[in-house]
Amino acid sequence: MDEGGSRIRRRVLVRKRNRPSLENVVATPTAAELKPSDEGEDEEMVAGSRRRKTVDVQPVENIDSEEDMFGDHDSFAENSFLAQVDDLEQKYLQLPEHRKHATDHATEDLCSESITPNTLSIATVGGCTELKIDEHTKNQSGHEDVPIEPEADILYSVPSSQVLFFKNLHSSSDDLVDPSTEERNGNSSSHETVNQELPINSIEQPQQTDKSSSKVRTSSGVNRRKSLKDHLKSAMTGNAKAQTPIFSRTKQLKETLLSEEINVAKKTIESSSDDIGPFYSLPSKVRDLYVQFKGIEKLYEWQHTCLTLNSMQERKNLIYSLPTSGGKTLVAEILMLQELLCRRKDVLMILPYVAIVQEKISGLSSFGIELGFFVEEYAGSKGKFPPIKRREKKSLYIATIEKGHSLVNSLIETGRISSLGLVVVDELHMIGEGSRGAILEMTLAKILYTSKTTQIIGMSATLNNVEDLQEFLQAEYYTSQFRPVELKEYLKINNAIYEVDSKAENGMTFSRLLNYKYSDSLRKMDPDHLVALVTEVIPNYSCLVFCPTKKNCENVAEMICKLLSKEYLKYKEKEKLEVIKNLKNISGGNLCPVLKHTIPFGVAYHHSGLTSDERKLLEEAYSTGVLCLFTCTSTLAAGVNLPARRVILRAPYVAKEFLKRNQYKQMIGRAGRAGIDSIGESILILQEKDKQQVLELISRPLENCYSHLVQEFTKGIQTLLLSLIGLKIATNLGDIYHFMSGTFFGVQQKILLKEKSLWEITVESLRYLTEKGLLQKDTILTEKRLLRKDTIYGSEEAFQYSFHITKLGRASFKGTIDLAYCDILYRDLKKGLEGLVLESLLHLIYLTTPYDMASQCDPNWMIYFQQFNHLSPAEQNVAAVVGVSENFIGKKASGQAIRKKVDKNIVNRLYLSFVLYTLLKETNIWSVSEKFNMPRGYIQSLLSGAAAFSSCVLHFCEELEEFWVYRALFVELTKKLTYCVKAELIPLMEVTGVLEGRARQLYNAGYKSLTHLANANPEVLIRTIDHLSRRQAKQIVSSAKMLLHEKAEALQEEVEELLRLPSDFPGIVASSVEKV
Ligand SMILES: Nc1ncnc2c1ncn2[C@@H]1O[C@H](COP(=O)(O)OP(=O)(O)OP(=O)(O)O)[C@@H](O)[C@H]1O
Ligand SMILES: [Mg+2]
Repeated sequence: MDEGGSRIRRRVLVRKRNRPSLENVVATPTAAELKPSDEGEDEEMVAGSRRRKTVDVQPVENIDSEEDMFGDHDSFAENSFLAQVDDLEQKYLQLPEHRKHATDHATEDLCSESITPNTLSIATVGGCTELKIDEHTKNQSGHEDVPIEPEADILYSVPSSQVLFFKNLHSSSDDLVDPSTEERNGNSSSHETVNQELPINSIEQPQQTDKSSSKVRTSSGVNRRKSLKDHLKSAMTGNAKAQTPIFSRTKQLKETLLSEEINVAKKTIESSSDDIGPFYSLPSKVRDLYVQFKGIEKLYEWQHTCLTLNSMQERKNLIYSLPTSGGKTLVAEILMLQELLCRRKDVLMILPYVAIVQEKISGLSSFGIELGFFVEEYAGSKGKFPPIKRREKKSLYIATIEKGHSLVNSLIETGRISSLGLVVVDELHMIGEGSRGAILEMTLAKILYTSKTTQIIGMSATLNNVEDLQEFLQAEYYTSQFRPVELKEYLKINNAIYEVDSKAENGMTFSRLLNYKYSDSLRKMDPDHLVALVTEVIPNYSCLVFCPTKKNCENVAEMICKLLSKEYLKYKEKEKLEVIKNLKNISGGNLCPVLKHTIPFGVAYHHSGLTSDERKLLEEAYSTGVLCLFTCTSTLAAGVNLPARRVILRAPYVAKEFLKRNQYKQMIGRAGRAGIDSIGESILILQEKDKQQVLELISRPLENCYSHLVQEFTKGIQTLLLSLIGLKIATNLGDIYHFMSGTFFGVQQKILLKEKSLWEITVESLRYLTEKGLLQKDTILTEKRLLRKDTIYGSEEAFQYSFHITKLGRASFKGTIDLAYCDILYRDLKKGLEGLVLESLLHLIYLTTPYDMASQCDPNWMIYFQQFNHLSPAEQNVAAVVGVSENFIGKKASGQAIRKKVDKNIVNRLYLSFVLYTLLKETNIWSVSEKFNMPRGYIQSLLSGAAAFSSCVLHFCEELEEFWVYRALFVELTKKLTYCVKAELIPLMEVTGVLEGRARQLYNAGYKSLTHLANANPEVLIRTIDHLSRRQAKQIVSSAKMLLHEKAEALQEEVEELLRLPSDFPGIVASSVEKV
């Protein structure tokens, strides 16, 4: 056997040895396949964001006002470090222009996030498709989802549950007691008792004492900055020195204590004994911070068991799986802190959506400030590639799937991948979901292949075929059925409610008849008894109603509010008015008519048609109990933390597809708030015709997850192979095949693609890339010989068959361009060189309008024609240059047949560029939404998609000499598209979680720069900024501090770099350079 062959065998042997040996390994594979998620909304469009439970449920005013996020930590205003930073910034401002650019986070180095497919098409929201959607809904319930006219007798027919509630409300309001607070408090304390009964561990662990801390003092001395830096710092501190002594002494003392504890923990970990540190090898301060910031006093028993597994001590890869709300995040966070603080390595955490990344950044920034590590955002347009090299503090990169991939690529390219000590993947089952799954798989496979020291941890609530994943990740497996709040599952058929019961013959037992009094007219409007079901819960508790489509969410919200008793209006009236006022504020005076009607009842819809500002505001109102009912699409279920007492599934469908078991589990998993509710309930409403399918749904195992690497051809295997060669991870066939056999696809190949061997798939894909001009062969060997049976495993020659990347290949890889579009992009840019219209931005915008969004767009021809006619002659010329004539648009608008063949993709793309162009001119999503009859959420996604693609095109052009002229243009355009707001708001919007509306409020209140925000007092902020909760205020301030800190550090490093004598300085030997 040749060398390559033996390499493969060796790998297989290693994989075998690494097979899990834990006793509690559980895996039950099934045959069903998990398909990509229903609505396919991309990361930019998905709404939900995590909310911490402790603060969420309390009205803002009930939160302890004594609680200061930064405790007695030195205030930033008086911190000598910041004074230095100020000076540094002053100096920095005087630096030559090009050097400033090198440190700019948001612009030149803008990431090259790949564009995720945006399956949300205009068709799904435009008038005619709404009809299709409604048709489906009609099928479900027998009523049409068109706005319903109020009827005179409606309010007579209020369900008895509503009447009962308001009787109670009146009697309790006499005592001036907020019923919700009373209920919630009651439940909260009862839950505490439950917790106390759980076996308690770990938080109260014995602390390491003096003996070990004395060792630390020496090593903390070692950690101090070098004299050059000290010199620089003191020289630059200037007038800040005067205030330094008092604060820095306290601060130094605290920092020394903390670093002593960290060193104790580090030593403990290094000695790998069972005697772990004060708090899971971490300083006891970490435990205090969890109590202070998250209200977590004790770990659950499973969390303790998991953290103390032998495999964790041995740093093996691990997959763990627990039901929704099981508390998986905390375990991952503790492991990340161990890596950052004790092993002193960087950490990457991959989360599914931008909103969740932002929530996590806000949540962990305060930990970073307290414990001395950086928290860096890699989502949307944020992130630096390669990341800034930090010399002392370590970094926690929190990234979306796409950004995580780019980050790993850049670390491999710069030879820094081993600086990554740990990678945590939340919602690991997403590896089986479409192109995003393929990207996640590539990322993990590359880490496995290039860094043997990087530990991988994956978690999920919905895994079935864990064995395959274990084999791929060479990981141990831990699972438990623990859920802090019991979840009861019900089905509703007609007016009967059944409890899901696995022991019963047909999987369910009768529970009760619905208690309601419906008049005929009421029944006609609400045939599914939604009002009766929700009023059993709201407004004291919260409720989520999952609906099959976006339009249906809005219709259901309106319908429920039409039938609710007017008494509901009185509940938290003032706070709800405040929400409306704030919605208007952030939307430039606009307010969606549906929300205007439903919010006074405490009800709102929640889906990707909302802008991210609106979504944030509504989520906050829901979390604090001001809103009690969300009608939402399935996207709210994906790992978001907006729990409810009751979850109702309005139909067993997502869009037109029947519900999958995984989706069902994720949706019902939102029921039951840990620490608040004693139980959670889910009710799936079904019609007789779906009964059999539903009974099967509730009893079958979760769907398996399968690799999409090959299925996602251009975005999967081709992108992977191109980057393997581009990054020189593997350049000859033997190594590439070796790599491929270690992927998740490699593990599942025999199930997924029986008719072809992995070798054949690899060779064919390489051939395709070569034919496209993205790769070039180095060795001459005919394809025929390669595919001959005897060469498959045998020939040394075949394994040495090597490739290199072409210029076009490198540009596509660097720009993370979907390979399906790279040659079209090249052609478009080339054509642009011949006649770029630069009188306006329109032509440039056209070039950066995402191809995939254009292919799914369905223009409204009348609007197209009108907008065309509003353009200046120069702008109209752009249409002509790209190949769309006025005549064509005119004919389409008047419904005439067109004989001449026109490229639909170009026409659609131009239409979307009109939308973007108008948006850049008007900067008002609402007016553009009205003008083009598109939902505002879609327009926002189009904008962020274009911003990301513009940055991709920029990177593409940077690699191709012939496109040098485009570079400066796309730098500016990317900036314009990324922020699309007045320039003065940009610095504020750099802070995680500060969106346009909030940035405007802050700016108007005098917080005009990052430094203003970092120095702000959260208490003052909540007094001056409308509808800003204490939690949000603290998060904004801590995120701003973190960002300022990062920028200051980068500047400091740059100054040192500037002053350092070059190592190749003539006449100086390397060793003496070191001493300078
Ligand atoms: N030991 C604990 N004590 C009290 N609350 C806890 C504890 N651990 C976690 N929680 C809280 O439980 C809630 C749910 O936890 P988490 O978000 O980690 O769930 P999860 O397992 O990731 O669920 P999902 O699969 O839905 O994402 C959070 O609000 C978290 O703060
Ligand atoms: Mg989770």
